[in-house]
Amino acid sequence: MACASVTGHLLESGLVVPVCRTRKPSSFSPPKPKFFTVRRSLAIRAMSGSPAVSLKEKEGTPKGSMGSLISTDPPKGTRDFPPEDMRLRTWLFNNFREVSRLFSFEEVDFPLVESEELYTRKAGEEIVGQLYNFEDKGGRKVALRPELTPSLARLVLQKGRAQSYPLKWFAIGQCWRYERMTRGRRREHYQWNMDIIGVPGVEAEAELLSAIVTFFTKLGITSNDVGIKVSNRKVLQAVLEKFNIPVDSFPAVCVIVDKLEKLPREEIEGELDKAGVPSNAVEGILKALSLKSFDDLEALIGAQSGAVAELKQLFALAEGYGIQDWLHFDASVVRGLAYYTGTVFEGFDKDKKLRAICGGGRYDRLLSTYGGQDTPACGFGFGDAVIVELLKEKKLLPVLPHVVDDVVMALEDSLRVPAAGVAARLRSKGRVVELVIEKGKKMKWVFKHCDTLKAKRLVLLGSTEWDQGKVNVKDLDAREQTLKTVDELIEST
Ligand code: HAM
Repeated sequence: MACASVTGHLLESGLVVPVCRTRKPSSFSPPKPKFFTVRRSLAIRAMSGSPAVSLKEKEGTPKGSMGSLISTDPPKGTRDFPPEDMRLRTWLFNNFREVSRLFSFEEVDFPLVESEELYTRKAGEEIVGQLYNFEDKGGRKVALRPELTPSLARLVLQKGRAQSYPLKWFAIGQCWRYERMTRGRRREHYQWNMDIIGVPGVEAEAELLSAIVTFFTKLGITSNDVGIKVSNRKVLQAVLEKFNIPVDSFPAVCVIVDKLEKLPREEIEGELDKAGVPSNAVEGILKALSLKSFDDLEALIGAQSGAVAELKQLFALAEGYGIQDWLHFDASVVRGLAYYTGTVFEGFDKDKKLRAICGGGRYDRLLSTYGGQDTPACGFGFGDAVIVELLKEKKLLPVLPHVVDDVVMALEDSLRVPAAGVAARLRSKGRVVELVIEKGKKMKWVFKHCDTLKAKRLVLLGSTEWDQGKVNVKDLDAREQTLKTVDELIEST
C-alpha cells in the first residue's frame, strides 16, 4: 500500500481556479524584507510551475532574525485559499448546504483522520492504493479519509438502532487521495455527500438525483451541459449468475470492469481471469455493459430481473420530479468502489472535457462488512474541483466581491476612541465596517481605500464636527455629504 508523508497542511487547501477578480490589489505595501530579491525570484518560479524550490539562507542575515525561506508552494496536489478563492468555496458550500436543507437533510461531520482498517477493503480498488496512511505517535495505523462513506457507516453503526430511520445526512469534508493529477483531480478535494440510510426502494435514489439536479439548476447549469448516467450493478450480477461465477467475486469484478475505458482489453481479461471469470464470460459482460436501452437490457437478462424493475421504477419517478431529461440509462457505469450493490450513477459534462462531476449509488451491505447488520443505504459524493472547472467552461463563475458597508476613520489620533465606538455601534446593526486603524493616512489614501473595498459610505470623525456631537457621512455612490449625530447615523442604517 502506498504510504505518503503527511505534513501540517491538512487544514489549508482550496480552489485553485482563479475567480473573477473584481477588486484591485490592496494599496498596502509591506516593508521590503532584506531577502526581497530571493522572495521575488521564488514567486516567479512558483508561477512558472517549477517544482518546489530549495532555498539557501541569505548571506548576512542575522541569526535568529530571519531564517532560511521555505518553499511558498503548498504541497503538490494541494491548494491554498487566498480570500478570492475562499469566497468561491464558501459560495459553493452554501449552495451545497442550501440544497441539502431543501431536501430536509441534516448535516454531520467526521474526523479527517480515521483508522486505516476502515478503508482496507480487498477488492483491488484504486482508492485503497491511494491512501495517505501512517502510524500515529501511539503506534495506531491511521489514514486521512479518502472519502466520507466509511466514516458515515461507522457513525451509523455507533448510533445503532436508537436512531429514528430513515437517516438523511449530508456532509461537506476534505478528502485525501494520493492520485495522479489531472484536470479536476487533485490530492485533496472537498466532497459534498448526501446519504439516505434505511430506505430499500429506489425512491431514495430518486431523491438524491433530484437533489443533484436542483444543485446544477441553482448554479445555472442545464441538461444541455450535464447528464447523469444511471445503471444498476444487478445488471452485471445477472450476467455473472448466467455464467455461474461465484457471488464472492462480484465486488472485485465490478472494480475491474470499471477500468474498461482506462486499460487495454487484454489487461482487463487478465484481471478478470485472476478474479475467477472464465474467458467465455468476458464477452457476455462486455455485451451487457454496452447496452443503452431498457429493451435491449430486458432481452439480455429478462424482464423479471430486479435490475430492470428498479431501473424502470427509478426513471418513472424521475418523470414525477421533472428530471428525466438529465438521466441516461448507460450500463457501462459500474463505478470503481467495491461496496455498491444496486443503482449506480455518475454526473458527466456533455462536452466530454472533464472527469466525473459526481457519483454515487446504493450500498446495502457496507455496514455488514464492518460487523453490523445489512442496512439499506445509498448516497453520492460531489467534488468541489470539477464543478468549478465546469462553471469556468460555461462562464457561470459568480462575481463575489468582498463587501464593505462603511469605512470609519478618525481624522485625529485623539478621536480614535469615539471612532471605535461608532464602528462598534454600526457593527451591532449588522453593517460591515472597516475601521481605519493605520496611522497617518491621508484623505487621498482613504478615498482610494474606499474604492478598493467598494465601500458604500465613509464616516469621518474630525474635531470641529465632533465637538458639536456630529460626524461627517459621505455617501460614496450618490457622492453626497451630510453631518449627522451618531444616533442619526445609526438610525439611518
Ligand atoms: P467517488 O466517485 O470516489 O465516490 O467520488 C465522488 C466525487 O468526488 C467524484 O465524482 C469527484 O467529483 C470527487 N472526487 C473524487 N476524487 C477526487 C479527486 N482526487 N480530486 C477531485 N475530486 C475528486 C465516493 O467517494 C463515494 N464515497 C461517494 C458516495 C457517497 N457514495 C455513496 N455515498
